[in-house]
Amino acid sequence: MKTFNTINETKKYLNPFHKKGQSIGFIPTMGALHEGHLTLIRKSKAANDLTVCSIFVNPIQFNNKEDLAKYPRNLVLDSKLLSENGCDVLFAPEVQELYPESEPQTLDVDFGDLAKVMEGKFRPGHFNGVAIVVKKLFDIVNPTRSYFGKKDYQQIAIIRHMVDVLNIPIEIVKCETTRETDGLAMSSRNLRLTVGERKTAPWIHQVLLKVKEKSGTLPVGQLKEWAIKKIQEESSLKVEYFEIAEKESLMPIENWQQNGNAVALTAVFLGDVRLIDNIELF
Ligand code: PAF
Repeated sequence: MKTFNTINETKKYLNPFHKKGQSIGFIPTMGALHEGHLTLIRKSKAANDLTVCSIFVNPIQFNNKEDLAKYPRNLVLDSKLLSENGCDVLFAPEVQELYPESEPQTLDVDFGDLAKVMEGKFRPGHFNGVAIVVKKLFDIVNPTRSYFGKKDYQQIAIIRHMVDVLNIPIEIVKCETTRETDGLAMSSRNLRLTVGERKTAPWIHQVLLKVKEKSGTLPVGQLKEWAIKKIQEESSLKVEYFEIAEKESLMPIENWQQNGNAVALTAVFLGDVRLIDNIELF
């Protein structure tokens, strides 16, 4: 596996692949890699001539300084996992490389209500930071396809919207959430859970499964209330939001007739660790 820290080296290495029309699969990450990321790497390997991964803890998508400081980092182990899983190129820039002080960081895309609900509401500026970095990375790697996990359901909708509005010819591949055997959605943040918290965390997925069973049988509002109460039966879990929304637009729905394509999404604090998860209902 080739590892590059600069934009120029990365572009120079990838240029001949572009010229020959070879396909490039790209997995942007913030590191602390787990099986979920490695599944995306393997999916890309199966469908593309070359697989590129980036590791960059993007400061501008954190609206909480402490969360940024505590974000797990382990580049040595990550590199090993990537190369063992057949990744061809790792791009791991420093902050200065992607955000030189002289350049203002803006993106002229209106995400409308999509950036105002759920994650957008509770993490102001988060999606703007995600979109800016993903656009930069897309410009550098210029992949054929880019792979994202459904755990970050709203992030995929944001990236798809950006790609549509800016006419970026990259296929955004939506991949199933990878789960631990007890159902907990894999996340780099799971590393921050204490042993006790780790035992409680799968309850979120268990409640989501029950919500799927109950969907359509209770009015949407009642089901949301039920779900919040059920999650918080584990007293260490504090629900930040629980929403039932239309799958594509992610606009919250008020009744089942409104749209049969619904997804339930939640963010839950367990101690000071914020976990998100979701389940497609129909
Ligand atoms: O999902 C993530 O890890 C990040 O939001 C991403 C897409 C790598 C952008 O920093």
